Amino acid sequence: MSAPNKSYDPVEVTALSPQELERARDEALAAIAAAGTLDDLKQVRLAHAGDRSPLALANREIGALPPAGRAEAGKRIGAARGAVGQALKARQAELEDERDQRVLVEETVDVTLPWDRAPRGARHPLTTTQERMADVFVSMGFEVAEGPEVEAEWFNFDALNFTPDHPARTMQDTFFVGSEETGLVMRTHTSPVQVRSLLSRPLPVYVVMPGKTFRTDELDATHSPVFHQLEGLAVDEGLTMADLRGGIGVFVEGMFGEGLKTRFRPSYFPFTEPSAEVDMQCFVCRGASAEPGGDPCRTCSSEGWIELGGCGMVNPRVLVACGVDPERYSGWAFGLGVERTLMFRHGVEDMHDMVEGDVRFTLPFGMEI
Ligand code: DAH
Repeated sequence: MSAPNKSYDPVEVTALSPQELERARDEALAAIAAAGTLDDLKQVRLAHAGDRSPLALANREIGALPPAGRAEAGKRIGAARGAVGQALKARQAELEDERDQRVLVEETVDVTLPWDRAPRGARHPLTTTQERMADVFVSMGFEVAEGPEVEAEWFNFDALNFTPDHPARTMQDTFFVGSEETGLVMRTHTSPVQVRSLLSRPLPVYVVMPGKTFRTDELDATHSPVFHQLEGLAVDEGLTMADLRGGIGVFVEGMFGEGLKTRFRPSYFPFTEPSAEVDMQCFVCRGASAEPGGDPCRTCSSEGWIELGGCGMVNPRVLVACGVDPERYSGWAFGLGVERTLMFRHGVEDMHDMVEGDVRFTLPFGMEI
């Protein structure tokens, strides 16, 4: 059959010798036992059971042995590799178990720890009051619109029929941005959003416009240079002052309670004609404090009525400035103070509380959304 094995290599014989195999196996077992982590064990597996490990290399040498020795050598290598394989498996299981135990300890969540100690805060009552006021009109089908706080004088005054020499335009009342020449002001009321709405929306228009307004007032108990208004505007065919009264009436009842009366007193605004101041019956004493012999009422200072804001029928000049045909359309508008509403609705007596940002003031109002 085959010629005598001439390329007999004593080194390879050594690799397959029982002592050498034992040594390789014991080294492997020692390394496996010494592996402290799963990563270590991965390296050990490569070195002692991988394709280039001493036992794998020895296995390849079997073919070089004389046939008589092959079975014996094969058995020895098989036994050594089996022992290494089992040890690897056992150590793998041990290390996985250790890791699992460690993860359980390290990543423990103490479900008994209190979870609600971080203060939740509150929304500012001016924000929630403003939203509530707008919501009453949204329920009547109005949309909410917004405009810029830095406003062109034209929108803030001219388009609203303020004459060029109107006293409200002076620096006594109005914050000009830069100098008076820039034509830019911090809007003194939300009424310019009426103009923006009419210029940008198709008719009919039913919008409420909440937002910040600015005037050169000193901060005191009842004034602030920054305050908030809710503007309202309805422009449609055939609207009359009766619709205005109805709208305001629904607002008052929606905001303060059913059955409360409203009254209009004649007034003047350049952008409405006729114009009125609107009052509501005091929701605490319902007017009783103003009757002879009535108990005094703090909410309305025993007036029986609470002033809400201004309103009126949109001046045709404003409609014309906005490109609306006053022969066909008419409109009504109003402007209500948000701070005022918060003050008497919740008995807030000092404007400072609303601007200072002390959470002890806002927290009792809660997280109303
Ligand atoms: N803009 C007025 C102000 O700030 C309030 C006002 C009055 C608004 C009458 C209106 C209105 O829309 O019709 O004092």
